[in-house]
Amino acid sequence: MSFTIAIDGPAAAGKGTISRAVAEHFGFAHLDTGLLYRATGRRTLGGTDPVEAARTLAAADLEADDLRSPEVAQAASRVAALPDVRQALLDFQRAFAARGGGAVLDGRDIGTVICPEAEVKLFVTASDEVRARRRHKELVEKGHDITYDEVMADLRARDARDSARATAPLKPAEDATQLDTSEMTIATAIETAIGIVQARLALV
Ligand code: DC
Repeated sequence: MSFTIAIDGPAAAGKGTISRAVAEHFGFAHLDTGLLYRATGRRTLGGTDPVEAARTLAAADLEADDLRSPEVAQAASRVAALPDVRQALLDFQRAFAARGGGAVLDGRDIGTVICPEAEVKLFVTASDEVRARRRHKELVEKGHDITYDEVMADLRARDARDSARATAPLKPAEDATQLDTSEMTIATAIETAIGIVQARLALV
């Protein structure tokens, strides 16, 4: 069986946490597609051409230590606006979704471009303040020296760029279920997402 769950949304809305938990609950494989763009963006900081970086991405690139840094996040958002970079990363993502046994992919364009036929589509959001607070806490805990205002500026700049680009912009698929996690605990957000998937699974 190939059952695909597409989870999209802006930066730091809770996609990653929800996707990992949903994948674990159903025994599905999980792909954080943001990592592909982060690894590509990271290589461009070292001078590599973005399209070349995307085409030659290797497993080791996805395991670099600093992929979560705000500098790499900005570089990811910049390379993600290039159609040839997105094209270079397309087949890997589609193959992951089609591998059988069920897959959860999270990103910005999974429900709209990568897996338009996904059985379940979630669009996860949260207010700017909640997202900045969560991401700031996460980064500080990891030892980053960064203020709340800097995190907010990073998220807003990326969301603006990711939403405004011509190719595969950040936007909900027409058939996506919206999940606003602003007022939810992590546990409630996960439980709600699992409930939505469960209801769809029962129908296929
Ligand atoms: O999900 P993330 O914050 O790790 O993603 C980093 C950047 O990569 C994000 O600002 C936009 C880009 N991205 C994208 O364009 N399409 C995806 N499917 C995933 C990420």
